[in-house]
Amino acid sequence: MYQRDKTGAKMKQFLSINDVPDLNGLLDKALNIKANLNGKRELGKHKSIGLIFLNPSLRTRLSSQRAALNLGMDAIVLDVNSGGWKLEFDDGVIMNGDSAEHVKEAAGVLGRYFDVLAIRSFAALEDREKDYEDAVLNAFAEYSGVPIINMESATGHPLQAFADLITITEHQKKSRPKVVLSWAPHPKALPQAVANSFVRWMKASNVDLMVTHPNGYELADTIMEGVSVEYDQNIAFDNADFIYAKNWSSYTNYGKVLSSDSSWMITQEKMNLTNNAKFLHCLPVRRNVVVEDAVLDSTSSIVLDQAENRIVSMQTVLESLLEELK
Ligand code: CP
Repeated sequence: MYQRDKTGAKMKQFLSINDVPDLNGLLDKALNIKANLNGKRELGKHKSIGLIFLNPSLRTRLSSQRAALNLGMDAIVLDVNSGGWKLEFDDGVIMNGDSAEHVKEAAGVLGRYFDVLAIRSFAALEDREKDYEDAVLNAFAEYSGVPIINMESATGHPLQAFADLITITEHQKKSRPKVVLSWAPHPKALPQAVANSFVRWMKASNVDLMVTHPNGYELADTIMEGVSVEYDQNIAFDNADFIYAKNWSSYTNYGKVLSSDSSWMITQEKMNLTNNAKFLHCLPVRRNVVVEDAVLDSTSSIVLDQAENRIVSMQTVLESLLEELK
């Protein structure tokens, strides 16, 4: 269980839940911000954020801009792959290949242009050790000289997990709901980032968390320490108050799709096993592969609330950082 911070420590960056000194305090702050999204239009005046994307996005890109604008900040987006130079991240490389610029200079320059930087960079899913070093995010943190926000890295998506926590808090009907994270099929190999962060944030919250997935899809031991795993999806769904569906590729057989078993798709029949559970997914979602239409189109689905709360999670993080930049 996450302990409320008693030292008054402030948020200095937002790479992961480790940068949150007081989770309950941050959640309270988010709910207050949501009630008045335009209440701090002056806080970010003359402050700027660079939103740096090495991978595609719909929600993160627009919710982050929306949040920054709500706080009166200037927000500028760079899609590195289409509008920037190809970056080198390894040290000591003879740069006579494709990469024209090293992250040491790129991050340093961006740090001169912006007060805050936010970075999206997915796992390559080829080399587990390399991905789990989170080299891209950490390089920007090391060389930019300004606070960094993680907009989904190789190993985590804390802005999503924070939005998920806000959404569960808004919809929960009991003080300690049963929350089930269910693996679901997907034709492509996806990173573990969303699942990793969801587990970490739920472990720190007052919920009864269970994870269900086929054999071979175990997440890292460090993430799963203390979490119940149930390999039978039907048993896991019993009496659940929230079902969070997500695909991830294998961690042990790194980056591989071991199963595309459609019997793991979330159906209305399976939702009927639950305690009238709400359905969550971070989006984008493949209909009738991950979850059937009947669930997504039902009143149980709260995926749009989750997406809306991406503005709230980013705005709460930005407000916390801006209070320290003043
Ligand atoms: N959930 C999420 O991060 O969506 P995008 O990939 O569209 O940003």
